[in-house]
Amino acid sequence: TWPFYAGFLLAYLVGSIPFGLLLTRFAGLGDIRAIGSRNIGATNVLRTGRKGLAAATLLLDGGKGIVAVAVGWQFGTDMAVLAAVGVVLGHCFPVWLKFKGGKGVATAIGVWLALVPNVGVVVCGLWLAIAFVFRYSSVAALVAMAVAPFLAWHLEGPQIAQAGGAIAVIIWLRHYQNIRRLLKGEESKISFRKK
Ligand code: G3P
Repeated sequence: TWPFYAGFLLAYLVGSIPFGLLLTRFAGLGDIRAIGSRNIGATNVLRTGRKGLAAATLLLDGGKGIVAVAVGWQFGTDMAVLAAVGVVLGHCFPVWLKFKGGKGVATAIGVWLALVPNVGVVVCGLWLAIAFVFRYSSVAALVAMAVAPFLAWHLEGPQIAQAGGAIAVIIWLRHYQNIRRLLKGEESKISFRKK
């Protein structure tokens, strides 16, 4: 079983690279954890007004999900599923940031695209549609991530669905503050203007 531990650890380490934090720091914007929602993800990078940096954060955070699962697949379904959970855990709880990381949405989208492409496409579509209509990034993520495991169960069976369920639970827990703000009507909407 040690190759599985090693693979899981590797996926965790890939996931723990905080691209949003690094890109905004290199761009001279200071610490993204002092801005907006204080999150290190693409939605919060967008709040700096730097759309290109936000897009790069989305692609790189998503990309690490794709890479981890694609490599995992080379060793079979068990490894792909472990890598999927590991990479999201790494993004949400990175050892470098004292385990205070992001919310896992972009990384999980990448994970789904590599794990079950059809589910990935539905997750992207749902996320975009809800974000476009309601303008809440968090709502789009919460709904898309909750739907994904059920769809995966239907298309692929229990093992991948369970991994997806674990990922959805992690992401919902990391959105605790967003859910509180949503219930109080205080959640900030997606905006393409600088705040
Ligand atoms: O991707 C994270 C998103 O769902 C919420 O981000 O910055 O509004 O907390 P934020």
